[in-house]
Amino acid sequence: MERAKVLPLLHFLVPILACYCVGICMAIDNITITQPLRDPGNIFSSSQTFKLGFFSPQNTSNRYVGIMYNIPLMTVVWVANRDKPLNDSAGTLTISGDGNLVVLNGKNETLWSTNISDSARTRTAQLLDTGNLVLKDSSSGMTVWESFQFPTDSFLQKMKLGTTEKLTSWATSSNPSPGNFSVGLQTLPTAQIFIWNQNKVHWRSGPWGGNVFIGIQNMDSAYLNGYDLVDGGSESAYFTYTISNDWPPGHYFYNLTVTGVLMEQYWGEGSSSWQVTWLSMESQCDTYGKCGAFGSCNPQNTAICTCLKGFEPSDREEWDRGNWTHGCRRKTLLQCERSNSAGQDGFIKLQNMKVPDFAELKSASAQFCGELCLRNCSCSAYSYYTGIGCMHWSDSLVDIQQFSEGGADLYVRVVHSELGKTFLQHKSIIVPLFNFFRMTFSQPISVKSL
Ligand SMILES: *[C@@H]1O[C@H](CO)[C@@H](O)[C@H](O)[C@H]1NC(C)=O
Ligand SMILES: *[C@@H]1O[C@H](CO)[C@@H](O)[C@H](O)[C@H]1NC(C)=O
Ligand SMILES: *[C@@H]1O[C@H](CO)[C@@H](O)[C@H](O)[C@H]1NC(C)=O
Ligand SMILES: *[C@@H]1O[C@H](CO)[C@@H](O)[C@H](O)[C@H]1NC(C)=O
Ligand SMILES: *[C@@H]1O[C@H](CO)[C@@H](O)[C@H](O)[C@H]1NC(C)=O
Ligand SMILES: *[C@@H]1O[C@H](CO)[C@@H](O)[C@H](O)[C@H]1NC(C)=O
Ligand SMILES: *[C@@H]1O[C@H](CO)[C@@H](O)[C@H](O)[C@H]1NC(C)=O
Ligand SMILES: *[C@@H]1O[C@H](CO)[C@@H](O)[C@H](O)[C@H]1NC(C)=O
Ligand SMILES: *[C@@H]1O[C@H](CO)[C@@H](O)[C@H](O)[C@H]1NC(C)=O
Repeated sequence: MERAKVLPLLHFLVPILACYCVGICMAIDNITITQPLRDPGNIFSSSQTFKLGFFSPQNTSNRYVGIMYNIPLMTVVWVANRDKPLNDSAGTLTISGDGNLVVLNGKNETLWSTNISDSARTRTAQLLDTGNLVLKDSSSGMTVWESFQFPTDSFLQKMKLGTTEKLTSWATSSNPSPGNFSVGLQTLPTAQIFIWNQNKVHWRSGPWGGNVFIGIQNMDSAYLNGYDLVDGGSESAYFTYTISNDWPPGHYFYNLTVTGVLMEQYWGEGSSSWQVTWLSMESQCDTYGKCGAFGSCNPQNTAICTCLKGFEPSDREEWDRGNWTHGCRRKTLLQCERSNSAGQDGFIKLQNMKVPDFAELKSASAQFCGELCLRNCSCSAYSYYTGIGCMHWSDSLVDIQQFSEGGADLYVRVVHSELGKTFLQHKSIIVPLFNFFRMTFSQPISVKSL
């Protein structure tokens, strides 16, 4: 058969095929001014991983334009007109005369636009195989807008989770308009991922330790290679991930649910549902500041909160009722807080800890990190983590958790008299002053577990 005769036929068929078949047939991946997308049409990324089209969430007939995985189970990863639904199936996604990608209703009213101000260019929108929808100048090929810069509730590989690039939850599972929860990165003083409920911190990852966030238990046991903090330390830092060959093959993505839980989900070959492989909220201990100041949370204990050694509940009655919000306070003043100080304060070592929030970075070696803390009475704890360095905490210690493995060693300042006492609540190691100075001024020693 002669090629020249086949091609025009294909060009004619392609838009039609794209509308009615999912999967194997050849499909277009772009939208132009002459080739709009009308409900219920779809376009597909070049290797068919993602599709772009119209959808209705569960229990509503409202129509939205979204990017979805091209799998049998509807899985929406991005929504264009998230707070302006179409109320019928007369919607169109097209390039407008001014070069913007727009969602129009049946009356040609604009419900959503990419809002690029420099107008009147010829542009093409293309759905890439990463799930990114890009708007390009047709002449220069330059990208002027991309959906990855305006995430909704999903975090795909190669996307950026940054200080401005945040995810926001859907309002309800039938309504993709922005809900109360958001997730993003904060870079100072250490890079941490936070989930906020409106303006209140709901969850945090702990500091970035070079390969993983050290406040996420077991992050290092799975998929170690693939996470990255780009431009760490700067305001423009962002977190990203790339599915590498040592991950089981399939689709992976993160979703911020309507209840503020960040979920890692996996879809393997032949799957019929998403498998949840990780949750930010695995126990009550993952709720930010669950045990209040100087309280430590261990999900394996019947009473999940305990006061750190040397501390007692601020409000004993409330604490005993299981309301831990007021946390703990020191039983006695620190030696350094008294004028007639007899003896010195020391540190107890807690192992496998989610370290507190508000770490301050100090330029001190592993050996001098503790000494520096001891010298400053407002330093209430320190930790040295390879990949981060020396961290100090002043005043309150909040959002501490006892892990069963992983985490970091946390040294909490206590009065000298507390150092000798037995301590059962944590896997703790007492580092009396004697050991401390050996540790500081001679070779590092390994302190044995009790
Ligand atoms: C849109 O996709 C079709 C089919 O892959 C391709 O032939 C065409 O060149 C694309 N148009 C633009 C403007 O990229
Ligand atoms: C949809 O409605 C049904 C019946 O009212 C309800 O059982 C179900 O939970 C709803 N689903 C969602 C996602 O809201
Ligand atoms: C649908 O929305 C249009 C405006 O976009 C409005 O004029 C129309 O009344 C609505 N129809 C229904 C059934 O709500
Ligand atoms: C909307 O715009 C399209 C393309 O310009 C045109 O064909 C159609 O008639 C318009 N529809 C209405 C209701 O104005
Ligand atoms: C585009 O601009 C309009 C008017 O300023 C605004 O209402 C709308 O939210 C903007 N759309 C997007 C996607 O930013
Ligand atoms: C957000 O929280 C407020 C209360 O703080 C509540 O009234 C509202 O319904 C919540 N919004 C959503 C979308 O859940
Ligand atoms: C992502 O989160 C939304 C909102 O909670 C939920 O409706 C949707 O089912 C989630 N996606 C998957 C694949 O679980
Ligand atoms: C705990 O106590 C505080 C202050 O007394 C109160 O506002 C809060 O509602 C209590 N929380 C619970 C879960 O009872
Ligand atoms: C002690 O630590 C606090 C908090 O980090 C800091 O503001 C203060 O300057 C330190 N004092 C000295 C003497 O280093």
